Amino acid sequence: MPYPEIRPRRLRRTAAVRRLVSETRVDPAELVVPMFVKEGLTEPRQIASLPGVLQHSRDSLRKAAAEAVQAGVGGIMLFGVPVPVSRDERGSGGVDPAGILNVAIRDVVAEVGDTTVVMSDLCLDEFTSHGHCGLLTGDGAVDNDATLAAYAEMAVAQADAGVGMVGTSGMMDGQVGVVRRALDAAGHTDVAVLAYAAKYASAFYGPFRDAVESALDGDRRTYQQDPANLRESLREVALDVAEGADLVMVKPALPYLDVVAAVRAAVDVPVAAYQVSGEYAMVEAAAANGWIDRERVMLETLTSIRRAGAQIILTYWAVEAAGLLRQGY
Ligand code: PBG
Repeated sequence: MPYPEIRPRRLRRTAAVRRLVSETRVDPAELVVPMFVKEGLTEPRQIASLPGVLQHSRDSLRKAAAEAVQAGVGGIMLFGVPVPVSRDERGSGGVDPAGILNVAIRDVVAEVGDTTVVMSDLCLDEFTSHGHCGLLTGDGAVDNDATLAAYAEMAVAQADAGVGMVGTSGMMDGQVGVVRRALDAAGHTDVAVLAYAAKYASAFYGPFRDAVESALDGDRRTYQQDPANLRESLREVALDVAEGADLVMVKPALPYLDVVAAVRAAVDVPVAAYQVSGEYAMVEAAAANGWIDRERVMLETLTSIRRAGAQIILTYWAVEAAGLLRQGY
């Protein structure tokens, strides 16, 4: 060896020195747990393709929200699952104050108040009978500008229900600006916008579509991004920030760490990443087969997403990971 001997292993010798020089920590306060609530359920129900994740009843959702706060998670992202008869062409259940998501926002806010950040998915796909994230034209295409008006109404309905932050996940052009303006005009200037700024048309959303009993037949490639593109994400992110996004998100997370890093470098608002259902399900399935160490892989994925530059991570493991992290895992 040349002198002086450079020995990186010195800094790996004990757990204490590794802890001292660790460049990346995952903090429970930066984890957000997505939760599903299904209209009309009296008991929570397992989701086969998302083992450990539930479709909640209104009651079990309140309890789970309180537990998540207890575990120290930074936020809860709510998704509503309407029964089929509550879905229509226009997704009106998203705007209806009695729609399942708006009801759930009220319930959760009543339960946890400001002890965590209550967020809601601002998208029409769970509420439309065709499963698309927007309104359709006569020939079945997704109509961007007609959809914007629906998002504006839905944002105000969610804010009226007490939500702290709306997650604009529909990938319509101009959605952040329209939502911001509608919230402000309705006096909800304090409600923040978490922009799903770079959201890819990903096959990793498969289990989520089971979780929300998606009616979609086809795909979302005319509005969600092509997985092949990185520069396009920077353009999407810049537009969302210019339109007033308070935070921006990249989704999925682990297969798109290059995008996370590029977005982090490009903007000065907080950057989130969504570790989506398929990412979770792959690890759970491999762990169930005894092929990987579940907890270690869980925390390694979160650390990697954090290291790439996401300050906030949406993950179905948020509550469990928060517990493990508190134990110094
Ligand atoms: C749209 C939405 C989706 C996800 C979050 N918000 C589905 C989609 O775009 O098809 C996917 C999240 C996941 O896979 O965990 N409402």
